[in-house]
Amino acid sequence: MIPINELARGYRLYQDEYEAKALEVLRSGWYVLGKEVTAFEEEFAQALGGDCYCAGVDNGLDAILVGLMAAGIQPGDEIIVQANGYIATMLGIMQCGGVPVFVEPDEYYQLDAARIEAAITEKTKAVLVTHLYGLATRMDPILEVCRKHNLRLFEDCAQSHFAPYKGVNTGLFGDASFFSFYPTKNLGGFGDGGGVISRDKALIDRVKVIRNYGSDYRYHNIVIGYNDRLDELQAGLLRVKLSHMPELLANRDHIAQRYLHEIHNPLVTLPQVPEYCKHTWYQFVVRVDDQAGFMKFLKDRGVSTDISWKTPPYLQPCMVEKYGFKRGDFPITEAICDSIVILPMMDWMSEEEITKVIQEVNAYAGLAEN
Ligand SMILES: Cc1ncc(COP(=O)(O)O)c(C=O)c1O
Repeated sequence: MIPINELARGYRLYQDEYEAKALEVLRSGWYVLGKEVTAFEEEFAQALGGDCYCAGVDNGLDAILVGLMAAGIQPGDEIIVQANGYIATMLGIMQCGGVPVFVEPDEYYQLDAARIEAAITEKTKAVLVTHLYGLATRMDPILEVCRKHNLRLFEDCAQSHFAPYKGVNTGLFGDASFFSFYPTKNLGGFGDGGGVISRDKALIDRVKVIRNYGSDYRYHNIVIGYNDRLDELQAGLLRVKLSHMPELLANRDHIAQRYLHEIHNPLVTLPQVPEYCKHTWYQFVVRVDDQAGFMKFLKDRGVSTDISWKTPPYLQPCMVEKYGFKRGDFPITEAICDSIVILPMMDWMSEEEITKVIQEVNAYAGLAEN
């Protein structure tokens, strides 16, 4: 069975380096917020393009929470997000007292700038874009609408490490940007991890206070903070992976280019890549009418698939209970959730595996023959 992802492959690619770094950290006797975290923060900010600052935190959800807190989001503030985004983004907004306000995505699955104005109320304080699947959102019109209505801009980059829009990496457009280093992410560690990026050093300094019990120096607490710290082992291992990002992204691009050029099936719609972007293929998402039938067909022939995600965030029970959303509220999003299928994509695949995925997808003939 070809897996949808197999994390051990990524580990094996640089096994010696990971193991040497792990031993180095274990032997150092210093395990939380130390020189590995500081070095990772500097190297990651530099790799994104410099002229920005990073605070490492414990995961992507907490990056959103502490980042929004540090940016001054207050209880009751409305934040515009895409309806097909991820639940963690909404949880981060709600945990700092904000209210997510949903709009439909565009044809690339990203927040549709043209729909933002209709969602603005007197409580709207910000737009939070999630660059989904490894592709940047079309930022110019979003920046324009934020300027026009004096809204803050935040980016959820959990799926878009090093995905550029017009040559500038995602994460560098917003007042603050939130990264996850969860193991499946393109820059993923070996456990949980996250980061906040901003060009505003004062905001990053506030994140560093909030992540550490709200203390600006030892045993001195100036805000009601959390324990949202990144540990040395993760930071050290992330530094190793960061140093290999160009070749890891090239591997993904190779797999994606083969899929794009060799999958020819009128029943399967391939992802589009707008000319202003370079896709980083966190996930390779196709669309089919018969989602369940297509997935079963591939499973029976040894190819794993997945859906991310079948239930949109506003239809999750906790959201329905809180806000009363119902099916039919965002039909474009629901059509996406009912038709997307993710094909195998990971740090490394053999040519035979890629060929097998392509052959089986091309063999799919829809309801008539299955
Ligand atoms: C778009 C998006 N936002 C936020 C998160 C949350 O990150 P984490 O799992 O590190 O909390 C994820 C990852 O799962 C994600 O895909």
